[in-house]
Amino acid sequence: MSSNPANKVALITGAAARIGAAITTELHAVGHQVAIHYRHSSDTAEALCAQLNTIRANSAFTYQADLSARNAGEQLVREVLEKQKRLDVLINNASSYYPTPIQTATQDDWDDLFASNARAPFFIAQAAAPALRENRGCIVNLVDIYADRPNKQHPIYCMAKAANAMMVKSLAQDLAPHIRVNGVSPGAALWPANSDADAARQQVLQRIPMGRPAGAEQIAAAVMFMVTGSDYVTGQILAVDGGRSVQQ
Ligand SMILES: NC(=O)c1ccc[n+]([C@@H]2O[C@H](COP(=O)([O-])OP(=O)(O)OC[C@H]3O[C@@H](n4cnc5c(N)ncnc54)[C@H](OP(=O)(O)O)[C@@H]3O)[C@@H](O)[C@H]2O)c1
Repeated sequence: MSSNPANKVALITGAAARIGAAITTELHAVGHQVAIHYRHSSDTAEALCAQLNTIRANSAFTYQADLSARNAGEQLVREVLEKQKRLDVLINNASSYYPTPIQTATQDDWDDLFASNARAPFFIAQAAAPALRENRGCIVNLVDIYADRPNKQHPIYCMAKAANAMMVKSLAQDLAPHIRVNGVSPGAALWPANSDADAARQQVLQRIPMGRPAGAEQIAAAVMFMVTGSDYVTGQILAVDGGRSVQQ
């Protein structure tokens, strides 16, 4: 066991771009070795990996996995442990997000949204737990304020994130005292890649007391608190939403 951050290994799912890449960059900056998981974004994942290895040689590795496949998460953890030999931090960040109106939602939508947002995080945590336990490590889930107050037309995603939030609380109990489990709940952090409707964005901004989206760095900063801040915090989900969840 080592408390030297340079020997610590962090696995970040969905790490090629956006919030995942920001978290990866921050963890690397404080000295962790990083395991960069991606599904389709191989070019951006490899570019991030190369950039981090330029800063410190052999400090970043990439892993491909589609987490909607059964057992893919467990296989991912096995590969990371085989290559990087230890695990201290698990960031469950990968997530699918799209509308599923009740009139047209399908069981395939259910399987896909629950796989990335609930099933994979849980089974990755299960597979990672022995290694995390050895190093008194931690897990941080990227939740969503919509886990508490649903986003219209997105029932399946919101239900899956509600399960993700309950995972944080359940596993904080069950994995204590060796592994801390926390969550960070973004409000509007970055606009979804598949949405550019200006009117919809303006509507969301009107409901945010701080009047702007968070940006990936603010979410990463909250994740870093959960990893490197107080080691007495577990089972907590921190909303990073510019005050949106306290709005009437
Ligand atoms: N953006 C926001 O404002 C916001 C708001 C609330 C909550 N959040 C949460 O914060 C986290 C990061 O948000 P984001 O907007 O940066 O996420 P994102 O870009 O929508 O997705 C992150 C990555 O998840 C991966 N992914 C999706 N489905 C997958 C699957 N079945 N198997 C493996 N990987 C899969 C994708 O990897 P590839 O590109 O490699 O395919 C994608 O790049 C998510 O958990 C999200 O729910 C974000």
